[in-house]
Amino acid sequence: MAFDHPEFDGHEEVVWFHDAATGLKAITALHRVRGGSALGGIRFLPYPDDHAALTDVLRLSRAMTYKWALTGLEFGGGKSVVIAGPEQKSPELLHAMGRCINSLGGRYHGAPDVGSCAEDMAVIRETTQYVAGLPGSDTSIPTAKGLFHAIAAIAKATLDAQDLTGVTVAIQGAGGVGGRLCRHLGEAGAAVKVADVDARLAEAAAASCGGEVIAPEKVLSEPADILSPCALGAVLNEESIPTLGAKVVCGAANNQLAELADADRLLEAGITWGPDYVVSAGGIIGGAREMGIIDDAGCEARLKGIGDTLLKVLDRARGAQVNTDLAAKAMAREIIGD
Ligand SMILES: NC(=O)c1ccc[n+]([C@@H]2O[C@H](COP(=O)([O-])OP(=O)(O)OC[C@H]3O[C@@H](n4cnc5c(N)ncnc54)[C@H](O)[C@@H]3O)[C@@H](O)[C@H]2O)c1
Repeated sequence: MAFDHPEFDGHEEVVWFHDAATGLKAITALHRVRGGSALGGIRFLPYPDDHAALTDVLRLSRAMTYKWALTGLEFGGGKSVVIAGPEQKSPELLHAMGRCINSLGGRYHGAPDVGSCAEDMAVIRETTQYVAGLPGSDTSIPTAKGLFHAIAAIAKATLDAQDLTGVTVAIQGAGGVGGRLCRHLGEAGAAVKVADVDARLAEAAAASCGGEVIAPEKVLSEPADILSPCALGAVLNEESIPTLGAKVVCGAANNQLAELADADRLLEAGITWGPDYVVSAGGIIGGAREMGIIDDAGCEARLKGIGDTLLKVLDRARGAQVNTDLAAKAMAREIIGD
C-alpha cells in the first residue's frame, strides 16, 4: 500500500499512529530528513478513507522538502495528517498526537496547518517539544515580507522595472498576508488594487496603501502588471488562465494550480508564474526563526533571498524552456542531491 504508492517517491519513513483511548488515527510522513529533522504542518481532516489520508500526507511532505530546500535552510520535508474532523479534536487527542510526535525523537517537527491552529499547537506542546507555530507567532508577517521581495524581483525580471514605483498589483485576499502585502507595496510606490469577500478588510487594506478596492469576482481578470493570489487554492485553472488580466502571477495562496498541466497552460499563454511554494516560503523561514534556528538578521536575509531564488527559477525555466514549476522542482532536487 505504501511502497508502491504513486506518491511514495522514496519516503524515508512513514509512521502510522493509533491511540485506542482517544481514537487518534494519524500518519506522519518524512520525505527527506535533512539536518536531523523534517518539518511540516499537522493537518486535521475527516478523510474518507486511509488511502486518501496516505495520498495527502505523501504529497504534502514531498512538497515541504522542495519548499525547505529552496529556502537554503537544511531541513527535510515532513507532514502529519490526523484523520479527524473538528468535532473529534479534544485535548486528550492532541496530547496523544504530541506523544506520537515525541516518539520520533525530533526527526519530525509539527506546526499548524489546515484544521489546526496555534492554540492546538500549545496543547500538543504539553506532550512534546517538537512543535512550532505557538500562540503569539504570526507567520503571515514574514510570509508577506518574503512575498514582497518576490514581487520586486519578478517585476525586475519581467517588466524591466528597477523598482515598484507605478507597477500595478491586483491582490486577491486582504487577510493576514494580502493585507500586509498592500502596506509593503504602498510604501514602495506600487499602485494597489485589492479585493476580498469581506469588504471591510478590502477597504482597510486599500486605505493603508492609497489603493483601490475592486470586486472579488473581477480580481483575476482585472488589468494589472502583476496578479497576486493571496486567498484560495486552484485559482489558476483551464477556465481562468485565458481570462487573467496580468501577464505575471506571484502570490502566497497555497496550491494555486488546479492541476500540474496548468503550469504549461500559463507558459503557453505567455504568463510568468512565481511558484507559490517558492514565493510563500517566508512562513517557514519565520517558523525557523521562532524555533531559534536562525536569528533576526538571518531571517531578514532569507526573506530577501526569496527574490533571488525566484530569479534563478525564472532563469532556469527560460533556459530550459520549461514551466517554472518544473524548473523550481528540479532546482530543489539538485539542492538536496536527489
Ligand atoms: N499565513 C501564512 O503564513 C501563509 C504561508 C504560506 C501560504 N499561505 C497561504 O496564503 C493564503 C493567504 O493566507 P492568510 O494567512 O492571509 O489567510 P487569511 O485567511 O488571513 O486571508 C485570506 C483572505 O482571503 C479572503 N477571501 C476568501 N475568498 C476570497 C475570494 N474569492 N476573493 C477574494 N478574497 C477572498 C478571505 O476573506 C480572507 O480575508 C492562503 O492560501 C494560505 O494558505 C499563508
